[in-house]
Amino acid sequence: MSEPALDFATTQSALRAAGQEHVLAWWPELSERARRRLLRQLALVDLARLPEMQAAIAALGQGKPRVLSPAPVFELASREFPYLAADGARAVAPLGEQALRRGQVACLLVAGGQGTRLGFPAPKGCYPLLPLTRRTLFEVFARKLLRVSREYGCTPPLYVMVSNQNEAETREFWATHEYFGLPAEQVQFFAQGEMPALDAAGKLVMEDKDRLFLGPDGHGGVLQALRVKGMLADLRRRGVRVVSYIQVDNAQIPPADPAFLGLHLAEGAEVSLKVVRKDDPAEKVGIFCLDDGRPGIVEYTEFSAEQAALRAQDGGLLYRAGSIAVHAFSVDFLNRLADTGVDLPLHAAHKKVPFLSPDGIAVEPAGPNAWKFERFVFDAIPLAGKVAALEVPRDEQFLPLKNADGPFGPDGFRAAYHAYWGRAVELALGKMPPAIEVDPLVAENARDLMEIIARSPAARRWDLNAPLLVTPESLAGLI
Ligand code: UD1
Repeated sequence: MSEPALDFATTQSALRAAGQEHVLAWWPELSERARRRLLRQLALVDLARLPEMQAAIAALGQGKPRVLSPAPVFELASREFPYLAADGARAVAPLGEQALRRGQVACLLVAGGQGTRLGFPAPKGCYPLLPLTRRTLFEVFARKLLRVSREYGCTPPLYVMVSNQNEAETREFWATHEYFGLPAEQVQFFAQGEMPALDAAGKLVMEDKDRLFLGPDGHGGVLQALRVKGMLADLRRRGVRVVSYIQVDNAQIPPADPAFLGLHLAEGAEVSLKVVRKDDPAEKVGIFCLDDGRPGIVEYTEFSAEQAALRAQDGGLLYRAGSIAVHAFSVDFLNRLADTGVDLPLHAAHKKVPFLSPDGIAVEPAGPNAWKFERFVFDAIPLAGKVAALEVPRDEQFLPLKNADGPFGPDGFRAAYHAYWGRAVELALGKMPPAIEVDPLVAENARDLMEIIARSPAARRWDLNAPLLVTPESLAGLI
């Protein structure tokens, strides 16, 4: 990032030209230090983006008519538990394995969100989620990556995107836990960018007399942050071809899925994505479809109830490809976007934003009072030359932790986790244990676990009347 211009006169005239001079209202009473802080912050705010922000607000009311149609998806080969990937994806899985062995795959974990809905006072990745050991989401991903490393004899770099709000805490958490067994140099953290907020009058929101309100710029900020923070250069230096993009909220997702990566490579795709089958027309997920002929993800809010309920010839929903926000990005594509300076569109959302009243009083609003702005990573899909979408089984790969309760809360997660893994043990050994946890080091999914159990004499001695913790030790050295 360039050195900010700490010049009051220049800043003042730029603010005046943009109609935002109110941010200097308390200038006369600020200390020298506070003045410098404010100037430094203002220098990082791109006032030239204000019209784009206003346009994002205006676009919300307009609901431009869209010409949508279903998009092609590689659908599951079998809906029988424990599911099989699409035939096409299974056939090309060796390509993904080869890319892993050759060190051509990196994993990108986005963890910059504020986790407001979960109501947890720390970064979401620190949430102690697993049912028996209370392993955290971060540890789950680290152990999954360790398993990949051992299986394919590679050390895929892990890039963790954080935000200014949670960077220090996240770094410290990983360092305190010694990177959960990953070599420290395999893990890199980088902070995404920030965006200011606008009030109802289109004015930048001040949080304090010497501070603008700034919030994370959305997961779509990852594209710019990868470039600005030197991660793109790092990817090139390491010879990485594909970036496996996952969200911190989904403990069931494989961080580097050979079938998915293989499909991406075999299809020559620039962006690939995973979808789950949507059966409930009212489910609130983004839908992968063609928008004016181009593949992309359209938010559920942009579908009418009638459109969402349309049926295909096979009786399933016509718009059934629910996005689980998992992608593969070709590094060449990321470079191309960076080189051409393409920015993803801004989306506005009306939110509660703490602010300083004109008489200098800090206000915590009771309801939405200002516009926040974010970019969405899936807006990169229509920019790709080739896109591949893979359907994956919902309960195998999509158990996100979003809320404090309900199906997407911790208890909902643990119930679905128990049902999924317990069923694998039941099929393999004839009984479902009352509780279960599977160390991510052991198995990525039920297929793996059932296959391991079949080979393990120790597994046949497990006590299935007690909570079952499946670890390498419980398999007596098989893993
Ligand atoms: C998102 C998708 C939705 C998809 C669902 C699947 C959007 C707008 N919607 O919903 O289509 O069906 O996931 O789970 O994304 N993050 C950052 N920085 C930010 C904001 C978010 O790193 O500035 C990260 C979060 O840490 C999290 C992920 O992005 O890992 C998802 O963010 P969140 O806002 O929770 O997405 P959803 O609204 O749940």
